[in-house]
Amino acid sequence: MSITPRPPIPSFLPENAPFSPEQRAWLNGLFAGLYGLTEGVTPLSAQEVAQLVPGVALAPAADTDDDAPWHDPAMPLADRMKLAEGKPLPRRMMAAMAQQDCGQCGYNCKDYSASIFARTEERLNLCVPGGKETARMLKDLYRELDASAAAPPAEKKTLPAPAKPGYSRDNPVAATLVHRRRLNKEGSQKETWHVEIDLEGTELAYEVGDSLGIYPVNDPGLVDAVIAALGAPPDFPIGGRTLRETLSDSVSLSPAPDMLFQLISYLTGGDRRQKAKVLATGQDPDGDAATLDVLAALQKFPGIRPDPGAFVEALDPLQPRVYSISSSPKVNVGRVSLTVDAVRYEIDKRVRLGVASTFLASRVALGKKVRIYVQKAQHFALPRDPNKPVIMIGPGTGVAPFRAFLQERLATNAPGPNWLYFGHQRSDYDFFYEEELKAMRKTGHLTRLTLAWSRDGDEKIYVQHRMRDDGRDLWTWLERGAHIYVCGDALRMAKDVERALIGVVSEHGKRGPEDAARYVAELKKNDRYQVDVY
Ligand SMILES: Cc1cc2nc3c(=O)[nH]c(=O)nc-3n(C[C@H](O)[C@H](O)[C@H](O)COP(=O)(O)OP(=O)(O)OC[C@H]3O[C@@H](n4cnc5c(N)ncnc54)[C@H](O)[C@@H]3O)c2cc1C
Ligand SMILES: NC(=O)c1ccc[n+]([C@@H]2O[C@H](COP(=O)([O-])OP(=O)(O)OC[C@H]3O[C@@H](n4cnc5c(N)ncnc54)[C@H](OP(=O)(O)O)[C@@H]3O)[C@@H](O)[C@H]2O)c1
Repeated sequence: MSITPRPPIPSFLPENAPFSPEQRAWLNGLFAGLYGLTEGVTPLSAQEVAQLVPGVALAPAADTDDDAPWHDPAMPLADRMKLAEGKPLPRRMMAAMAQQDCGQCGYNCKDYSASIFARTEERLNLCVPGGKETARMLKDLYRELDASAAAPPAEKKTLPAPAKPGYSRDNPVAATLVHRRRLNKEGSQKETWHVEIDLEGTELAYEVGDSLGIYPVNDPGLVDAVIAALGAPPDFPIGGRTLRETLSDSVSLSPAPDMLFQLISYLTGGDRRQKAKVLATGQDPDGDAATLDVLAALQKFPGIRPDPGAFVEALDPLQPRVYSISSSPKVNVGRVSLTVDAVRYEIDKRVRLGVASTFLASRVALGKKVRIYVQKAQHFALPRDPNKPVIMIGPGTGVAPFRAFLQERLATNAPGPNWLYFGHQRSDYDFFYEEELKAMRKTGHLTRLTLAWSRDGDEKIYVQHRMRDDGRDLWTWLERGAHIYVCGDALRMAKDVERALIGVVSEHGKRGPEDAARYVAELKKNDRYQVDVY
C-alpha cells in the first residue's frame, strides 16, 4: 500500500523573520490553519506577521507581492473580486481596495487589509480611490470576518503609538502656504498650480520621491448650500463646534454615503422611502447615483429635516489627499512645493469642485496655515549610485517628482545622465516649468528632454509615441543600467507607457514579447522601474 506523503506546510514567514526553526514551523502551521490553505500561498509581509502576532517586531522585508494579480488600478472592482475568488479573506479585502498603494489611507493596500483582518483598524472607508464601492465591499467582507471561526478575536487591540508629528495622516502639522502661481498660460484648458508651503516651525524633513498629505477644507459656498438644504441654523452645536465648522473641515460633502440614504429613508415615506432604501444598498434606481454628492442627495429628497447631529453622523470623514512633492529640500530649503491640477467639472448646471485641489488652487489664502504630513515614498527614489542614468516619464502633473529629482541630482552633483519625457495638451499653454527645464537642458544637466503635445496638431502625440520613436536610444540607456520612472495618470497613461517600453525592449533588445515583458518585470523587481501613479 502506498502512502501519499502530507504536503509540507508552506512558509508564510519572510526569510529574514527572526524565529528559531521550531518557532517557524509552529507559526507556519498556525497561519496555514488560520488561512485554511496548504498551497499556492504568498508569504505574509513583515507588517502582517507583526499584526497577527502582537508583540513580535520584525526586520522590514522587501514587500513584493507577485501573487496579487488584482493589484491593478485600472481594473474594475468586479473583475478584481473575481480574480481574488477563493482566496483568504485578507487577500479579498485587498482586492476590494482600488489597488494603487497610493498611501492615502496611511497604509499600502496589503497592510490596510491585514490590519482590518487583524481588527487593529476599524475604519473601512479610508480608501480614497476606491470610494463608496470599496467601502461597501469591505463592509460585506467584514461581515464574513465576524462569522468566520478562523477570525482573530474581536477584542480591541492596542493601536500603535502615533508617528512623529507631521509623518502620518493621524498626526498632521500646520504649515503656511507662501506661494502660488499658475503653470498654464491664459487660454489653456487646464488649470494647474505650483504651490509652496513653508515648513518653518514644523520640524518636517522630506526626501525627493515623497508625497505631501493635505487636509482640505470644504468650499464655503457648498457648506452654506448644504446648511440651507437642511434648513438648520449654521451655529447648531455639534460636539462643542458649530454645524458650519463641522461641515467645513470634518466631513466629506462629495459622494453621498450609503448611511445618508439610510437616514433619509427613515425620514420619508412611500416611494421616496423605497428609493432612498435602494440607493443605500448601492443600487441606482434613477440612473443618477454617480452624480449625487451630499447636496444633490438632499435636493433629491426635498423637505426632509434630519437632526443636524444625525446628519453629520451619517457622513464620511473628510479625507486628506496626497500630492507628489515637486521640490528638493536641498534647493528649496525649508519649503516644499507641489504641482496641483485643479479639478472642476459641471453636473446639472452646478460646478463641482475637487475638494483638495481647489482648496490649494484658490480657497486657502497666502499666509494661511494648512494641515499637512509627509507621506514617505515606498519604492520611488533616485538610484543610490549617482552615476546611474535616469529616464523619467511624467506627462501633466506627473512631472512633479521629476522636477524634484532633477533639482536633487543638480544639488548633489550627480554625474549620471538625466532624460525627461514631458507631455501635455498644448506647447504654447501647458509647458510646465518651461524656463527651468530649458535652462537645465542648456547646461547639459538635463541630458535629454523629449516633449509630446497631444493637442498641438490633428494627431494625438503622447509620451509613449515619443518613446517608440526613441526606441534605440532608450534601449542603449537601459543596457547601461538606467533606472526608469513613470508618474501621472494611472488609468491609461501608465499602462500605455509600460506597453511601449515592452515594445522597445522587444524591438531593440531582439526579444519575443514574452521575453521583453520578463525583462521589464525584472527591471521592476530590481527597483529599476518605479511608478508613482494616481
Ligand atoms: C501618490 C499620489 C500622488 C499624487 N500627486 C498628485 C500631483 O502631483 N498633482 C495632482 O494634481 N494630483 C496628484 N494626485 C491626485 C490627488 O491626490 C487628488 O486625488 C486630486 O487632486 C483630486 O483630489 P480633489 O480632492 O481635488 O478631488 P475630489 O474631491 O477627490 O474629486 C475627484 C473626483 O471627482 C470626480 N471627477 C473628477 N473629474 C470629473 C469629471 N470631469 N466628471 C465627473 N466626475 C469627475 C472623480 O470621481 C474623481 O475621483 C496624487 C495622488 C496620489 C495617490
Ligand atoms: N478619468 C479621466 O478621464 C481623467 C481625465 C483627465 C485627467 N484625469 C486625472 O486628472 C489628474 C491630473 O491630470 P493632469 O493634469 O496631470 O494631466 P492629464 O489630464 O493626465 O494629461 C496629461 C497629458 O497626458 C495625455 N494623455 C491622455 N491619455 C494618455 C495616455 N493614454 N497616454 C499618455 N498620455 C495621455 C493628455 O492628453 P489628452 O488630454 O489630450 O488626451 C495630456 O497631454 C490625474 O490624476 C489624471 O488621472 C483623469
